[in-house]
Amino acid sequence: MNNTPIYSRLLRHKSFGRSSFHTPGHKCSDFLPDNLLKLDCTELPDTDALYEANGIILETEKNLSALFGTKRTLISSGGCTLAIQTMLCLALKFGRKMLFSRNVHRSAVNAMALLGIDPVWVLPHSDTDLFTGRISPSDIETALDADKEITAVYLTSPDYYGELCDIGAIAEICHSHGAILMVDNAHGSHLAFGSKNLHPIHLGADMTACSLHKTLPVLTGGAVLNINNKDLAENSKEAMSLFGSTSPSYPVMSSIDICCDYLLNGNGKSDYTALEARVAHIKSTALKKGLTMPDELCDPLRVCVNTSLAGIKGEEQEKYFCSYNIDCEFCDGENAVFICTPFNTERDFIRLETAIKNLPDVTGKKAVRNKQSLPKKIFPPRKALFSHSESVNIKDAVGRTASGTVCPCPPGIPVIMPGEVIDETTVSELLKLNIKTVNCIK
Ligand SMILES: Cc1ncc(COP(=O)(O)O)c(C=O)c1O
Repeated sequence: MNNTPIYSRLLRHKSFGRSSFHTPGHKCSDFLPDNLLKLDCTELPDTDALYEANGIILETEKNLSALFGTKRTLISSGGCTLAIQTMLCLALKFGRKMLFSRNVHRSAVNAMALLGIDPVWVLPHSDTDLFTGRISPSDIETALDADKEITAVYLTSPDYYGELCDIGAIAEICHSHGAILMVDNAHGSHLAFGSKNLHPIHLGADMTACSLHKTLPVLTGGAVLNINNKDLAENSKEAMSLFGSTSPSYPVMSSIDICCDYLLNGNGKSDYTALEARVAHIKSTALKKGLTMPDELCDPLRVCVNTSLAGIKGEEQEKYFCSYNIDCEFCDGENAVFICTPFNTERDFIRLETAIKNLPDVTGKKAVRNKQSLPKKIFPPRKALFSHSESVNIKDAVGRTASGTVCPCPPGIPVIMPGEVIDETTVSELLKLNIKTVNCIK
């Protein structure tokens, strides 16, 4: 082999021996069997078929259904993106007008465009505005009271920083208004397995899209769509087949199967519950230094630390943690995000704790960020995304209409949505993110 850019870089990256605080949740540990690659296969008479499952795939889906307590759970080897596309497609059964939290992942915005959904937005808010913030039950109640045509609500919970919405209260409000609740739970598949069941499907959501691979020991691409509503469960496979490949990955599906067994019949639940204390200790180290983290209702396993007041910001963030042999999940210039799973080693946690301990003490200092507001919208996502467009230098983009989403990835949360007018605030936000061009409608 002499020209293998991807393979060679991965080998090189591995050789650094850095601690992984990013996805996938298995952290390349020994949890998954080595022979998965040898089991790569296709849909054969004895290996079932993803969209017509009536054999082994259906059996695993039933196990997953028991694991999450659902009416129906569908496997995806096309990531949470496929689960989100399917979820939105199924929600169309109830109507086309849907309420979305503004911190949606771009996969949802693209699915809206594909399905012709014109979103009504609701903005998250927080005391500090340092992290994304949450949508409160009263935000949802106000929006549903104001527009009786809304038939579905779509939230991201947890968000990238680990903040959770009060799903129980929001689900009650949605249902009393005759609306269904969908949750992008990409970052929260593990929430059913801690000391308290915080999984949105358990708390009353009708559907949740869950990226198993992010926080559980599953190969990249492994996800599920959980459905707890009989009407939505009907024809759900057909909906998924509209978007998904006809070649699902058997190694990915097998890893979901193995993970499900670990959580249903093995040590999974106790491993995830036990990890809470270790992560709480790391968080308390950050708090002792006066560092700001998301508070109140949060994912107990997500570490997110605002390092900007400690003088570590922008590109320095990744470099700082790298110097402790750590790869973060994501640094936004001000906050650093770490995904912890039971497949991290104690050495990983010591490195993270040491990196946090060695940050300057910022007790008493307070960081603030600009509040978000909604840009003016000219076109729905579908019309904008499928229009003729051109690439425009960001400095010349004020007043132009975006044709697609513009976002840093990760976290993949658009700063501007297709069909929205770019203003000066958006331009300065995009420049901060080092985004230099934007596709605009011609
Ligand atoms: C909130 C959120 N939703 C959806 C997705 C898409 O998930 P996947 O990469 O599994 O398709 C992501 C990916 O990072 C995400 O952060």
